[in-house]
Amino acid sequence: MNKPILDTEKCIACGLCAEVCGLDVIIRNGNDRPTINHTAYCHVCGHCVAICPQNALSIPGMVGNEYTPVQPPAISPSDMEAFLLTKRSCREFKDRPVEKSVIENLIAVARMAPTAINCQERTFIVVTNADKIAELRVALTKHIRSVLKMVKLAAGKPAALFLSAETQQYMRHLQADFEIALRHMDKGGDSIFHNAPCLIFFTGVTQDLAGRDHALGAQHYLMLYAETLGLGTCINGYAQSAPKVLAKCLNVPKGYTIYGALMLGYRRHTYRKGVYRKPAAIAYYE
Ligand SMILES: Cc1cc2nc3c(=O)[nH]c(=O)nc-3n(C[C@H](O)[C@H](O)[C@H](O)COP(=O)(O)O)c2cc1C
Repeated sequence: MNKPILDTEKCIACGLCAEVCGLDVIIRNGNDRPTINHTAYCHVCGHCVAICPQNALSIPGMVGNEYTPVQPPAISPSDMEAFLLTKRSCREFKDRPVEKSVIENLIAVARMAPTAINCQERTFIVVTNADKIAELRVALTKHIRSVLKMVKLAAGKPAALFLSAETQQYMRHLQADFEIALRHMDKGGDSIFHNAPCLIFFTGVTQDLAGRDHALGAQHYLMLYAETLGLGTCINGYAQSAPKVLAKCLNVPKGYTIYGALMLGYRRHTYRKGVYRKPAAIAYYE
């Protein structure tokens, strides 16, 4: 693993790099320039490079070695709050494809979401091909039909002997949702993808306990950023709960699982009112 390199000519011994290094790779020497501990474990987070006011640190061979100079973001808390309080899932899309350059831009931002030990192990699968979307739709419809049989059993009276009331209640919701979706599908509707022109899937490493987090982090970054471009998104729970079905239709890289799935397209509607949510359940230890 590469370690940061310190250009001692440029270093002014401010100590900021050592302060942000959580792994004892950069060691502070009182008021002197810090030293790099070449035997320490470094997960190449790049905080030292990003904080150095003198550009005295670099990390050789760092993938995508782009340290773009940044200004503190001009987003006010009230703007951010308003943005989050008005963001809604989108299920009505304009009959307009999402440009490839836009998709690339979205993914360029999504890949910035954090990952454990900065491993950045996730991949993206973009589907805009109508035949492939249709194939996925058919496969997922079949899957929902077979899962519905089990859901009905779990929601039924005999299952009350071994399932909690809460689980059964959840199963009844699921049953209703599946039945409505299938009814619409049988009439030629698209309750699965809502005729979205683009689907994006997010994978994580199957063996990694944080694989799902890595996929979903990127998914949420993409969803929020997409809103600023006039695009709408909606998470696809049907797809997310059927990674094996998806793996059969999509060329998922070996060792990876699809954990995140969403529809993407230009919004047909904007909402006049904000989001309602139940009050938060909070536990404080003060
Ligand atoms: C894990 C997860 C799975 C979801 N699956 C679906 C889905 O399959 N189809 C759909 O239309 N919406 C799906 N949604 C969107 C939710 O229905 C939506 O977020 C919720 O109703 C709140 O609405 P809002 O996002 O507009 O505030 C899913 C959301 C999450 C978080």
